[in-house]
Order: sequence, then C-alpha cells, then structure tokens
Amino acid sequence: MTEDRPLKGKVALVAGASSGIGASTAEALAAAGASVAIAARRKQELTTVERSLRTHGVPTVALTGDLAGEGVPEETVAAAERELGPVDILVNNAALARTGPIHETQPRHWDQAFRLNLDVPFLLTRAVLPGMRERGYGWIVNISSEGSVLQSDWTAPYSITKRALNALTAQVDLENRHLGVRALAILPGWVLTDLAQDPETLGVGAEDLLAPSDIAEVVLWALTRPPVVSIGPLIPVRPVSRSAQTLANWEQYLRTLRNYDTYGGHMADLYGSSE
Ligand SMILES: NC(=O)c1ccc[n+]([C@@H]2O[C@H](COP(=O)([O-])OP(=O)(O)OC[C@H]3O[C@@H](n4cnc5c(N)ncnc54)[C@H](OP(=O)(O)O)[C@@H]3O)[C@@H](O)[C@H]2O)c1
Repeated sequence: MTEDRPLKGKVALVAGASSGIGASTAEALAAAGASVAIAARRKQELTTVERSLRTHGVPTVALTGDLAGEGVPEETVAAAERELGPVDILVNNAALARTGPIHETQPRHWDQAFRLNLDVPFLLTRAVLPGMRERGYGWIVNISSEGSVLQSDWTAPYSITKRALNALTAQVDLENRHLGVRALAILPGWVLTDLAQDPETLGVGAEDLLAPSDIAEVVLWALTRPPVVSIGPLIPVRPVSRSAQTLANWEQYLRTLRNYDTYGGHMADLYGSSE
C-alpha cells in the first residue's frame, strides 16, 4: 500500500456504477489505484464512466446487464474475475426505490425490490466471499440508506429491503472480519443524484444536499483503515442542513419519488393501478 495509491493491486467490483454514488465510488477506487469492474444496464453511461476510470491508468472492465436477471450476479463476478483477477472489494450499490403504503404494494413490486436490493447483494457477496476468506482480505460495501433506520409512512418496500441489507451487512461482518474480510453499510441521507427527488420542488436548496463524491470519499476512507480496525458496520452519512434531513421531507419526498428506476428515467406512476 502506497500513500497516493492505497488500493494499488486490489480489484473492485461496483454493482450499479453508471451514475450517481456508484459512478463516483468507482472513480474514487480507480483514483486510489484499484482495478475496477463496473456493472449496470445503461451501456452508454457505463462506457462514459469506464472512459473516465481509464484516465487513472488502472485496468477496468464495463459489464452491461440487468443484475436482477437470473444468473447475472454470478456471471458478473465471473466476468470481472476473468478480466481483472479475484475481487477484493465488492460495492453493492444498485437498487430501485419503490415506495408506498403496504396495502397498496403490489406483490410483483415487492418481489422486484427484494430481488435487486437484497437478493442481488447476497448473490454477489456469496460469489466473492470464499475467495476473500481464503486470501484473508476483502471488503463488502453495501450502499444502504438512512431511510433504513427511520420508521415512517410510505417507505415500503424500499426501506424494508434496505433494513434487511443492514442485517446482511452485520452478519457478513460478524462471520468474516476475524479472517480479514470486513463488511460495511453506508446509510446515505439525501444525495443529489438521478434517484433523488429534485430538491427545489420540496423547497430545499440543491447546495444543501450531499454530492455523490461525499459518499465515495467515506467509502474510500473506510477501505483504507488499517487491517486491525473494525468500523461500523452501519455508517450514516447525511447532510448537515436541517431542511435536507431525510425526516424533514420524508413522506412528501416518497410520495413524489414513489416508483423509481433509473432505466429510462422515472418509472410510470403505478399508484392505484393493478400493474
Ligand atoms: N440519492 C440518494 O439520496 C440516496 C439516499 C440513500 C441511499 N441511496 C442509495 O444509493 C444507491 C445509488 O443510488 P443513486 O442515488 O446514486 O442513484 P442512481 O444514479 O440512479 O444509481 C443507481 C445505479 O444502480 C444501477 N442499477 C439500477 N438497477 C439496476 C439493475 N437492475 N441492474 C444493474 N444496475 C442497476 C443504475 O444503473 P442502470 O440504470 O444503468 O442500470 C445506477 O448505476 C442506491 O442503492 C440508493 O438506494 C441514495
């Protein structure tokens, strides 16, 4: 490990890296010297991110696909390892945000949220853990949400999947940290990304929100702690502004956010429909 390239020689896989927090985290890891595999569905955006990673002079690979697809998480790990070598750092960032009251949540939407937000991180983790345990080094970083620890209306199934992701993180950390494999969940507050609701519509200044790089910097800080240090496993990272606190706008925020998936922008508003 060198001062300016502390992750030189490490291989990272960032799941959900075509925009926002995932893209910024991939960038921070590449700048720190890691080889980085990035995965997401939007080919053009992923290519743009990959081009930017290459400027850091590290090996990279862009893997286009829907991580929620059958067998895709396992194939993604296999492809990343074929191109770059065994994965040392896994960042589970891909997620969709479906929100609403339980009685209006369609089982299909519940399943989609659990598939991408919980099953996919589990499957990716399961694919990389044996190698990490064997080599005595690894990081599983799960991008959760501050919403995972807030109980309020309109949060299902998003916050429920994120709360389960916190539990998965703690379990992985407990089972593996004595072998040098640590797990961490970052719980972002409101970050200015495609996924976040436009702050202006809720009377909040965009300058009050976190930037994706604020989250990426915390991830990098965590990954560069000495091997004897255990942190978290849950780390909230939120804006200081009172008006940009998650709870200040949470319900209104979720009502407008409602059904979000980056693919092609915001999903159709399915509230009240039988779809
Ligand atoms: N922004 C916030 O205020 C905030 C707050 C708390 C937590 N978070 C969490 O932060 C994480 C990143 O969100 P973001 O705000 O940075 O939004 P974003 O820019 O929309 O990032 C989401 C990423 O996940 C990818 N993704 C989504 N579905 C996928 C799928 N089925 N297969 C593969 N990749 C998929 C997206 O790429 P493609 O669309 O190209 O597939 C994109 O790269 C999420 O886990 C979110 O829950 C965000």
